[in-house]
Amino acid sequence: MAGAIAYLSRDTDGEQWRAVLEAGLGPVDFRKLDSLGKVGDIEVALAWKAPAGLMATFPNLKMIVSLGMGVDHLLADNRLPAGVPITRIMDEGLVGQMSEYAIYWALWHHRDIEKYAASQRAKTWKPEEFVDSIHRRIGVMGLGTIGQDAAKKLALLGFPTMGWSRTAKTVPGVETFHGREALPKFLGQANILVNVLPLTRETHGIMDKRLFAALPKGAFVINMGRGGHVLDEDLLAALDSGHLAGAALDVFNTEPLPADHPYWTHPKVHITPHMAGYTNPRTASPGVIENIKRLRAGQPLINTVDAKTGY
Ligand code: NDP
Ligand code: OXD
Repeated sequence: MAGAIAYLSRDTDGEQWRAVLEAGLGPVDFRKLDSLGKVGDIEVALAWKAPAGLMATFPNLKMIVSLGMGVDHLLADNRLPAGVPITRIMDEGLVGQMSEYAIYWALWHHRDIEKYAASQRAKTWKPEEFVDSIHRRIGVMGLGTIGQDAAKKLALLGFPTMGWSRTAKTVPGVETFHGREALPKFLGQANILVNVLPLTRETHGIMDKRLFAALPKGAFVINMGRGGHVLDEDLLAALDSGHLAGAALDVFNTEPLPADHPYWTHPKVHITPHMAGYTNPRTASPGVIENIKRLRAGQPLINTVDAKTGY
């Protein structure tokens, strides 16, 4: 039998992954965190927030697969074995869910749903002021696999939509900006800001007081990138000052969000527990199976990520 596949995640019991891999590859030597056995047998690691340093103890590891589209959880391990290729899942199902999340909160804010819920509780019939969607400009930070999908779908709903990325991009129906110098112009027009950047050395802490101040007054922030993008005190200050209308947050500097964190009770903060995109083995596995086949046939891998830069 070929080398073992280690499932290094505590999010699920891994049985769904075992099933889809066996359906695509035939019988697999599938090991879990608590029963890794002889680590010299391990050829492929499927990892999501694996214990730091663990993969460095696998002497024959040939490929690391990020079970998330984000790879920051791998790059945070400063003992990641050098020279072992890193690949990430590419999951159309997950991409679609991320867009749903952005669309849901954009519409929730745009259509004053919270105000109507309060009116219902007060048994008050009170139409809110109409805002034409052409006056609700949306900015998507990060125009990669997820950001492009979200931006295109938001644009199709009739919102003027902009996107910001590292390098120049052309996205149908979306006004694009790139590079740090273009950031203030992009932010200055974003009535709704969606963050879906990867967490890298360059983007860490990017959502700080300068960024919030650059947004128009009354802007609404949706963060489905990473908690490490946000300086929490700066976001809270921008909400408390009345500059920002609200924030929908799916990701946090510490997860799970500690019970005493001010976000939990803040009236303008809407929390979800890192559920915007769910890694579904059914939709995420085809690329992983393809890469295991390629690895074993000595062919170039797909969906690779640079271990230094994260892209
Ligand atoms: P991609 O790598 O496909 O795209 C990243 C985008 O961000 C690219 O457009 C890239 O620009 C841009 N970018 C990167 N660095 C910078 C920078 N310094 N300045 C400006 N733009 C930058 O990533 P995905 O779309 O697949 O995923 C994005 C992130 O979404 C993940 O890394 C993860 O953190 C998060 N995520 C969250 C989930 C959740 O459940 N909340 C689920 C899945 C992902 P360029 O193309 O020019 O390089
Ligand atoms: C991911 C995530 O990166 O779920 O896929 O956050």
